[in-house]
Amino acid sequence: MKRILVTGGAGFIGSHIVDLLVTRGYDVIVFDNESTGKREYVNDAAEFVHGDVGEATELSAVFARGVDAVLHIAGQASIRLSFADPTEDLTVNTLGTINILQQCIAYRVPRLLFASSMTIYGNAVIVPTPEDAAPAPVNYYAVTKYAAERYVHITAERKDLDFTLNATSLRMFNVYGERQSLSNPYQGVLAIFVGNLIRGEPINIHSDGEQSRDFVYIADVARAWVDALENPATYGQVINLGTGVDSSINRLCDIVLKAFGHTRASYSVNYHPAQPGDMRRSLADITRAKTLLNWQPTMALDEGLARTIAWARGGQ
Ligand SMILES: NC(=O)c1ccc[n+]([C@@H]2O[C@H](COP(=O)([O-])OP(=O)(O)OC[C@H]3O[C@@H](n4cnc5c(N)ncnc54)[C@H](O)[C@@H]3O)[C@@H](O)[C@H]2O)c1
Repeated sequence: MKRILVTGGAGFIGSHIVDLLVTRGYDVIVFDNESTGKREYVNDAAEFVHGDVGEATELSAVFARGVDAVLHIAGQASIRLSFADPTEDLTVNTLGTINILQQCIAYRVPRLLFASSMTIYGNAVIVPTPEDAAPAPVNYYAVTKYAAERYVHITAERKDLDFTLNATSLRMFNVYGERQSLSNPYQGVLAIFVGNLIRGEPINIHSDGEQSRDFVYIADVARAWVDALENPATYGQVINLGTGVDSSINRLCDIVLKAFGHTRASYSVNYHPAQPGDMRRSLADITRAKTLLNWQPTMALDEGLARTIAWARGGQ
């Protein structure tokens, strides 16, 4: 059985990927500092190691046990926090990734998948945006994620290593679904709105609400990650994971309100100035994922939202 190390495996995205890895028979070690992740989300069949990707000795203790692949998902995932504490953002996202790469080299790990982000495209000129569009980050988070992604691929392409490191970066768009934090106001607009409705708080929209995002459901994303793990067609590639359909924040607000039996007329929706680093339009071209992974997202936004709300109402 192959042993897979999943950093950030107690978080929203990581914990779903761990569940699917376990289902497919992998031996999984989760490495997470529980800063935003929750140990209760970690599958019982996976081993949990509390540790920080900033600490080389903590990482080394896990790598020394022998791992066949690393899914590096741990990260600081908030654009707003990247502006509030740029040093922490850089430390976790970029330096943390460099630490992972150093361990991969030291222990000759042959496979690495990295959690990259659509934010690296910034306000893309080509929409839907393909992977070969020029990166143009407009916030600090996107800079640290893009730097980390480049460290991953430049390392994998080094000719001086005495082993082959096959790397893949998955540039995820706006992932949503069960276990996304309903109480963290800094990341995940859909979950923030659902949390607002559950607690009876007003909804706050920055800018005019006509900015749009490509919302992709967590189960679709997890399937892509696990399908990519042993697929040589994905080696050396960066791959968008979105749906190819975008929704404005106003539309998202309306469908969340509707799911709770409200409209704008019956609920408080407040508009605020745009925040630093906000992007106007974000939409994936998913041709590459279709071609290399035979992957197609299957969850429609209304249904995925209904599932997320059912989970949220369950008191999570
Ligand atoms: N949610 C999205 O839409 C989205 C889109 C693109 C990329 N990403 C990236 O995917 C990854 C997971 O995001 P998420 O939405 O699941 O967020 P999350 O906050 O739920 O997950 C991040 C996980 O990393 C852990 N972590 C953070 N810092 C750590 C450290 N120093 N050492 C060890 N563990 C640490 C957290 O405890 C948490 O479990 C992040 O790297 C994020 O940048 C997320």
